[in-house]
Amino acid sequence: MSQTTANDIAATGATINAPAYVKHPKLISWIADIAALTKPDNIVWCDGSQEEYDRLCAQMVASGTMKKLNEAKRPNSYLACSDPTDVARVEDRTFICSEKKEDAGPTNNWMAPAEMRATLNPLFDGCMKGRTMYVVPFSMGPLGSPIAHIGVELSDSPYVAVNMRIMTRMGKAVYDVLGSDGDFVPCVHTVGAPLAAGQQDVAWPCNATKYIVHYPESREIWSFGSGYGGNALLGKKCFALRIASTMGRDQGWLAEHMLILGVESPEGKKHYVAAAFPSACGKTNFAMLIPAIKGWKVTTIGDDIAWIKPGKDGRLYAINPEAGYFGVAPGTNTATNSNCMASLTANTIFTNVALTDDGDVWWEGMTKEAPAHLIDWQGKDWTPAIGKETGRKAAHPNARFTVAATQNPVIDAAWDDPAGVPISAFIFGGRRSTTVPLVTEARNWIEGVYMAATMGSETTAAAAGQQGVVRRDPFAMLPFMGYNMSDYFQHWLDMGKKIDAIGATLPSIYCVNWFRTDENGKFVWPGFGDNMRVLKWMLERIEGKANGIENVFGVTPTFDDLSWDGLEFTEEQFHTITSIDVAAWEEELVLHTELFEKLAYRLPAELEATRVALKNRLSM
Ligand code: OXD
Ligand code: MN
Repeated sequence: MSQTTANDIAATGATINAPAYVKHPKLISWIADIAALTKPDNIVWCDGSQEEYDRLCAQMVASGTMKKLNEAKRPNSYLACSDPTDVARVEDRTFICSEKKEDAGPTNNWMAPAEMRATLNPLFDGCMKGRTMYVVPFSMGPLGSPIAHIGVELSDSPYVAVNMRIMTRMGKAVYDVLGSDGDFVPCVHTVGAPLAAGQQDVAWPCNATKYIVHYPESREIWSFGSGYGGNALLGKKCFALRIASTMGRDQGWLAEHMLILGVESPEGKKHYVAAAFPSACGKTNFAMLIPAIKGWKVTTIGDDIAWIKPGKDGRLYAINPEAGYFGVAPGTNTATNSNCMASLTANTIFTNVALTDDGDVWWEGMTKEAPAHLIDWQGKDWTPAIGKETGRKAAHPNARFTVAATQNPVIDAAWDDPAGVPISAFIFGGRRSTTVPLVTEARNWIEGVYMAATMGSETTAAAAGQQGVVRRDPFAMLPFMGYNMSDYFQHWLDMGKKIDAIGATLPSIYCVNWFRTDENGKFVWPGFGDNMRVLKWMLERIEGKANGIENVFGVTPTFDDLSWDGLEFTEEQFHTITSIDVAAWEEELVLHTELFEKLAYRLPAELEATRVALKNRLSM
């Protein structure tokens, strides 16, 4: 870690004493410009070392941002509790500032770049006064992989610096890949809380005004006012999805909100699948699932984001651009995801979970019984009785863990392979208590793109706003699209056409729904490890070994087509989660029509034609 003081900045007029290993004049001059604008007291060039990580964590323990957990119970782990107003992504404050409004499209907030720059400039002017600016170099994807890309985040939050070290390949080695003129995505982040001389800091500085801004043409990210998750760890949603999606559009690849898992049959045949689900719908659980069927094995490549590029053989190859998991803690336990619980035993940063009396962490759903006493995520006493009486949760529903992927006991051997892994199937799933059946296979690429494009899901705590309302979430990308959604659909259709044209095999596409409920509102499908039953059917379909029947939407398994070994699940229950209610689907199609009307400008004709065909089949 190399340090520059305010004096250096003042004395040299934005000379920032870059370490000798940084040899990129454009990068250095950009950092000087941002330092001159934001006016930090110090600049710290992060090298990504363990020593630096430990020092920053100790500094945050001293400042009250983090608590060190009981070393005997959870070694080298910390708890950070945020300001109660800064707990989730802020979609209404997220902007795509393309030159033309139609390039952001109707699903994004848009402002003209010049107007946004004029708005942000006064906010960023002096925003880091009294603070340290951390220079955080990171690679999204294995260092030097042809699928990877580099970013540099300048942030006044040490919490961001340590989380980025877990979530990305962060540190000195990035400068070797960058050389003297390599491309990087510039990311500027501030909590938006400058300190006057002598002013006491708070544990979690942030600002009531928030802006999460992307300039797709110049590939820049500017984030103001939040220290939390996807708003602040700019490699994740801002770069790996919003900016990368525009890079993918321009360069012929895909940046997707998808987990990637490897699945091996008892005969040793291995496939990789990528699956898109909206935030907080069980992607991490699915990525680490322990198969309920004997002999099958699931391994993890990634739990949230996939970058997918055509390989020389025409097949689609995927990498996980991240190096860690920033997962939702509540609901995670040894029954729902024991691999995840095993990952979290040490070296983990927890955010907004509860603290136990013996210095460990707890969240709703971790154990059947809550401990007798806790300090909740807002620092208040909490007991089961208080929880019952007030409805107050001990952990925030969007409480998170940050942990390195290498701590996952079922990490795939190829997770860090620069070449990526070949994808055999795409899975799309929403959270729907009604209407959408357990699993449907698209008969062709266009039908699959239609299924993904019209996906709906009930909203969760991952984003600020009302929860449990069904909204269209095309490809689970609604909050993460960096350009016009219709152009994105077209891009998927074009990718399919290109792969088809060279005679390479396209991945199969499936739509799933684990979340249908019965008349009492209880989930019918057991989910978790039992999702293997559905995965097995898909892979056997791909290999031409499993049957299915055609319905109006595509191909589905009958009760006898799934393996039921080790699970008591009746044909009647199966019917509850696979039946197609024509009246409900007619209403659903009205919602598809509404979406298409909203996206009408540039909507690919194939999708509207698929909708019409579907409607006709439904009314037959
Ligand atoms: C996430 C999200 O944090 O989707 O992964 O919100
Ligand atoms: Mn996500």
